[in-house]
Amino acid sequence: MYENITLIQGDITAQDTQAIVNAANSSLMGGGGVDGAIHRVGGPAILAECKQIVARQGRLPTGQAVITTAGNMKARYVIHTVGPVWHGGDRDEDELLRNAYRNSLQVALDNNISTVSFPSISTGAYRFPIERAARIALQTVNEFLQQHPLEEVRFVLFSASDLECYRSIVHHLSRRDV
Ligand code: APR
Repeated sequence: MYENITLIQGDITAQDTQAIVNAANSSLMGGGGVDGAIHRVGGPAILAECKQIVARQGRLPTGQAVITTAGNMKARYVIHTVGPVWHGGDRDEDELLRNAYRNSLQVALDNNISTVSFPSISTGAYRFPIERAARIALQTVNEFLQQHPLEEVRFVLFSASDLECYRSIVHHLSRRDV
């Protein structure tokens, strides 16, 4: 349980996994946080492909995922997903966050990608409580990996406190799930 999941503190734009996941918004036109960093470091090729996607299929609904080039980054692909904005928990936020992780991994699988880095989706500007989000993220990824053993799923936490939060939840969940 949880053996293919790694937790690090760092910058997702610097990761050498085949794909990195972007915490985007439905417009796919960029933003701040992870979204801003990915477009800044990856360069204009990413936005160009995002514009083609939106022209073809419209805005990206919350919980869905699409794939583009990673431009100038070490990774080859960016998987863009839209996490839910936190409104207190009674607007299906938990399920939408589960979908964002699950659909991102499904896109990786569909593209023969076996190593993926995730940020802590929705826990910044979208204000999703970190402990609740971490539990959903780790359980959803672990369940997916039981069916589809990707080589590595890496959570790249931006702060030491977020890393500590994810670590304590993995410790709790892996003891409970034995
Ligand atoms: N690498 C890894 N993690 C990062 C980085 C980075 N370079 N930059 C920020 N983070 C962390 C934040 O500290 C937070 O813990 O990623 C987590 C998610 O924060 P946001 O990027 O704000 O994403 P989210 O909460 O999902 O909000 C998405 O913000 O940037 C806009 O366009 C984006 O509208 C969308 C919204």
